[in-house]
Formats: sequence, C-alpha cells, structure tokens
Amino acid sequence: MADKKKIILTGDRPTGRLHIGHYVGSLRRRVEMQNSGEYDEIYIMIADAQALTDNADNPEKVRQNIIEVALDYLSAGLDPAKTNILIQSQVPELTELTFYYMNLVTVQRLQRNPTVKQEMQMRGFNDSEASDNKAGTPVGFFCYPISQAADITAFQATVVPVGEDQEPMLEQTREIVRKFNSTYGPALTEPEILLPDNAACLRLPGTDGKAKMSKSLGNCIYLSDSAEEVRIKVRGMFTDPGHLQVSDPGRVEGNTVFTYLDAFCRPEHFARFGDCFHGRKASFEFRSLDEVKAQYRAGGMGDVMIKNFLTEVLNDTLEPIRTRRRALEQDLPYVYEVLRKGTEAARAKAAETLAGVKRAMRINYFDSGVLEALIAEQSAKYAG
Ligand code: TRP
Repeated sequence: MADKKKIILTGDRPTGRLHIGHYVGSLRRRVEMQNSGEYDEIYIMIADAQALTDNADNPEKVRQNIIEVALDYLSAGLDPAKTNILIQSQVPELTELTFYYMNLVTVQRLQRNPTVKQEMQMRGFNDSEASDNKAGTPVGFFCYPISQAADITAFQATVVPVGEDQEPMLEQTREIVRKFNSTYGPALTEPEILLPDNAACLRLPGTDGKAKMSKSLGNCIYLSDSAEEVRIKVRGMFTDPGHLQVSDPGRVEGNTVFTYLDAFCRPEHFARFGDCFHGRKASFEFRSLDEVKAQYRAGGMGDVMIKNFLTEVLNDTLEPIRTRRRALEQDLPYVYEVLRKGTEAARAKAAETLAGVKRAMRINYFDSGVLEALIAEQSAKYAG
C-alpha cells in the first residue's frame, strides 16, 4: 500500500477482566504510544468474535466481559479522543476478509502454529478420550490466526504491540500479506510486531510462579483488584523455595516477587516506600533494585520485606487505574458511546480496505464503472 501512515492495531479477547500481565505485556505500552503523538491512527479491538471460537457454548461470558475490558482500557489510560476502541463482531468486513484469506493458507501451515497447538492442548481439543463434547477442535478456532490477520490488515496496521505468544499470529499475517500482494497486487500493509523490551514484561508469570498469568490457573492480579486483594495475593506469592530462614541467601532468578519488581519498580519508589525495608531486626537503605537484589542474594533479608515493598509498588501503579474505573463504572452510557463511535470509525477504515481487496481480486463486479466494462468485455466473447 502506498500509504505511509503509522497505524497501530491490537486487541484482547473479552473472556475476563484484564490483569497485570496484560498491562505490562501490552496495555501500558499502548497508552505510551497513544500519548507519544507519533501515530496517525490507533485501533484497539475487543476481540469478541475470536473469543467465541472456543466459547461457542458460552456466548454470555463473552458478552459480559466486553464492558469489563472496555472499563480496563479506559481506566488504564486509553483515550477515545486519540484511540478507536472497537468491538470486533460489529465490523463484518473482518469476516469477509477472513474468508478470502483462508484460500491463501494451508491446513498444514495452520497446524504448525505453536500458540494454537498449545491452546488446543490446554483446552483438551486433541483429547479423543475426553467424555464431554469439547473433544475435537472447532474449525473456527483452528482458523483464528487467519481471522487475526484480517483484524490487523483491515486497518493497514504498521505496528502491532502484543505479548510474545502472539508472534506466530504476526508471522502468519505477514505471510498472508505477501501472498496476497504478490498474487493480486499491493492492497495490504505488512505489519511489524512490537514486543515488550523488558524480559519480565515479555511473559509475566502468575503469582504461583507458573509460566503464564491466566484466569483458568487462578494466579492473576487484576487491574481492578482492591489494594487489600493485591496485598493478600502478594503475601501468598511464590518466591525462592530454598529461602527458608531470613539469614539464608536467596535466589532472585525465577523468584516471582523480583520478576514483578523488574516489571513495575521505578527509581522513585525507593524514596517513597523505603520504610518497607526498615524492620525491627534488620534495616536497609536502598536506592535501586540492584541493591535490593544484592542484599537478598547475600542473605539476611526476609521475604516479608520484599513482599511489602512489592505491594506498595503495585498499588502505586494500580491506584489511579482503580480510581478511574470506579468513576467509569458509574457512567456506562459514556463507555458504550465510546465503543459505538470507535466501532463506527473502525468500520469505515475496514470497508476501505475490503473495497481495495476486492478491487485487487477483481471481484468488485458491481462497482461503478466496473459493471459497464465487464459487460463490454464479456459481450466481446459473443460478438460476431
Ligand atoms: N489473539 C489475541 C489474544 O489472545 C487477541 C487479538 C485478536 C489480537 N485480534 C488481534 C491481538 C489482532 C492483536 C491483533 O490476546
């Protein structure tokens, strides 16, 4: 596409409230990008149609969570004056694009997608022994990487800020764009992925230290959790199982408290929450996370201290988000108006792309001017 605009598209499935893994993995970055003023257009999608690909029997869950995700977005700082927040299912152009892209992707290629493979396993789709009717993979679910390529290309996105697990979807999208443009002509833009630059943010573990924060594992801290809920969850967090006595040297690698600090701690937190490190038995003055880590490794520092500090750091980040959420919860007509307007703008953009796609594929038979030429062309076959 000749278009040199800088366009962001990304989104989330509305299957629950957003948690701090979503926040450091993508949401915080989106807000920064939005406020940088460097982008011409921004689209953030509530991917309800994608959520339905493995929730066909529970559409109500998806429906209920659209507003939760919208509230999380707005309270985290997405600004409708700069960002279009849209509901995927209300942009039917996306489904139409998906259908044409399906012809450019093989079943074998889809079967190699590592994220889809892992998700199929987690959901038991591969398990022929499973007694419930979940065994077997819904075709729509299997094809969602293609639908995601439609999401991204419909807006001619140049940048897609997402977590690491979305890398295979971006690769698939780029392949579809190349295939489309070389087969039919350049109607689509090849997007770049933008991953978090900090290793802790790339894949924030759950509070139990398990690889990924996920609602089904019950190891999440939600953006909307109260200060007290955060305190309780941090108190129960996985640290270093070998750190039994305060005097013992502790491990920082693989210690979830430190991973979270890597993701959330800022230099000013040491001045503001330094009291956390003043205990009855031991008292420390720290100016950086590196100093805390060095002391923890050396021994003499208890988990309670670092957990208290982490609680303060997390609540410092989450408090303004919670406050905005409480206000927005009392003004749902405004929130739905944001969604309606964002979806309307998104639809106009997607319709433009779809028209270009159909033009490139020459399946725009009834477009003005096209029909006359088509009649002339076909009539020539039968003339004389
Ligand atoms: N697959 C993404 C997730 O599970 C959600 C999503 C749908 C998305 N469409 C997208 C992300 C387009 C980025 C771009 O979180």
